[in-house]
Amino acid sequence: MCGIVGYIGKQKALPILINGLKRLEYRGYDSAGIAMLENGDLQIVKQPGKICELEESVAAANFTGNVGIGHTRWATHGVPDRKNAHPHTDCRKRLAIIHNGIIENYSTLKNELILKGHTFVSETDTEILVHLIEEFYDNNLEQAVRYALAEIQGTYGILVVSKDEPEMIVAARNGSPLLIGVGEEEYFAASDASAIIRHTRDVAYLDDGEMAILNHKTFVTKTIHDKPVTKYVERVSFDLEQIEKGGYPHFMLKEIFNQPETIRDCMRGRLMLENGDVRLGGLEVHLDQMLKAKKIVLTACGTSWHSALIGEYILEELLRLPVEVDYASEFRYRNPVLDPETIVIVISQSGETADTLAAVREVKKMRSPVFGICNVVGSTIARETLAGVYLHVGPEIGVASTKAFTAQVTVLMQIALLLARRKWMSAEEGKKIIRELQAIPEKVEKILQLDQKIQKLAELYGNSHNFLYLGRGYNFPVALEGALKMKEISYIHAEGYPAAEMKHGPIALIDENMPVVFIAIKDHSYDKIISNIEEVKARNGRVIAVATEGDEKIKERADHVIYVPQTLDFLSPLLTIVPLQLLAYHAAIVRGCNVDQPRNLAKSVTVE
Ligand code: G6P
Repeated sequence: MCGIVGYIGKQKALPILINGLKRLEYRGYDSAGIAMLENGDLQIVKQPGKICELEESVAAANFTGNVGIGHTRWATHGVPDRKNAHPHTDCRKRLAIIHNGIIENYSTLKNELILKGHTFVSETDTEILVHLIEEFYDNNLEQAVRYALAEIQGTYGILVVSKDEPEMIVAARNGSPLLIGVGEEEYFAASDASAIIRHTRDVAYLDDGEMAILNHKTFVTKTIHDKPVTKYVERVSFDLEQIEKGGYPHFMLKEIFNQPETIRDCMRGRLMLENGDVRLGGLEVHLDQMLKAKKIVLTACGTSWHSALIGEYILEELLRLPVEVDYASEFRYRNPVLDPETIVIVISQSGETADTLAAVREVKKMRSPVFGICNVVGSTIARETLAGVYLHVGPEIGVASTKAFTAQVTVLMQIALLLARRKWMSAEEGKKIIRELQAIPEKVEKILQLDQKIQKLAELYGNSHNFLYLGRGYNFPVALEGALKMKEISYIHAEGYPAAEMKHGPIALIDENMPVVFIAIKDHSYDKIISNIEEVKARNGRVIAVATEGDEKIKERADHVIYVPQTLDFLSPLLTIVPLQLLAYHAAIVRGCNVDQPRNLAKSVTVE
């Protein structure tokens, strides 16, 4: 959700805040604002729209102060306009706050504060917090923030400044990510490292219930109950170039085209062809526990949930264990049946998704082992799970997930292989799978060469109102993911279904205006899916088939064919998803949509 950044040091704060906010824009982009401590005064500039619009409105102000905070918003309470944009201020305009998260008891508190004479100007939950701090403020910002936080329920990552204590930023976290960047006589605070990586790679991650007090010389960390805590300063491993577009018009396209490399990175140092085995350092000491499992539960949200579905098929096939997949938002509230012989694997690119994180905490309460598959190193889920596997694909900036999806499937495959080799699988069988895995990046490269052809298809069908995506087996979740990509960024209504289910409803929608994307590769259900294609053609539907190279027969039935190279059935999603990512991307371009910042979406959903 929202992105936050703060700076205190010897440089001018404004450019640092604006550049930081640009890096964070993928977290939310409906309005933005900054608060600067400027010559003993508190200056606030807010603007609906994107950071470039904020940048234009602050340009004339010529701020030179070296303390400030900035925010890019994803609206939860109140429309995205100037009054609801952060920072919010108290009645006397001495204090300013930026906030990521949700204050659940805000309406009770607001009524109480109104009775005490406070005046509110926005519809946000955040504004009550700054008035609450004002209630407690007696020239001790740290203490006032602490007292105010004791009154609120909900989640927050906040930065607060006061014009009466201009040499200080107070930060606090509960449920929304926040880290402190450590420079030389300068400190940063941000909701993620990409905002500050240009200036420092040394960061300390705050945990829930912790706060930090930053000044020009040092930063101090405590719990919100005033107990000192020591934080380790860690080094962020990614480079600036990984969070730049690198010549591509959009991050999403760059991330799609980077997949040969990111899949390689995700396997690097993990596959041992000589003995047909896998090494996943994070899981090593937990292998016995994993091997004793009688059931596996996978839980996640969004695209990560789709890779969990593929994981279900792979793990069941290779381990012969029951595997359940659940949306994290459902899992956390439905009193799931867990025991110490059930292992739970959560999947999250960001490692911050609120529902997935809550699922982790539920599982821990029930004392089942919970493992994580995350991309963002040091993220909350990565830190709160027992152990896990990182994707190692670098930051994913495009809001629609692409390279994280293929890496998640690659990791799930590696976990399945690791466990299967210890249970029943021969070294020979392991080697065969590893050889196929190692060949995937080159095969993805080949598919990427079809980009122009896929662009033409997008031009042909980009004005459709609906799309249907159908697949079977391992490629049923790919149909779901293909449809999700299409609706996320092109706003075309798209649905994914298991192909055989088409007859139970979606077939009613088929006419000459309905493009139907079939994932029809040569696997054990190929003949069945060909029958489904016939059923669509009999009703004049337009068929786009993703098929296996060399399948000439399918050309007679489908209107358009996109060929992908042959691979093992359970690896096929790594190939079949790529043309569907490109199709969605080009359809969005044809329709003039903002690919990297689709309307209403956010990259990291840190509210329920
Ligand atoms: C948001 C993003 C999706 C992502 C989902 C889960 O909806 O827009 O791309 O798949 O959250 O995020 P996670 O970081 O937990 O994988």
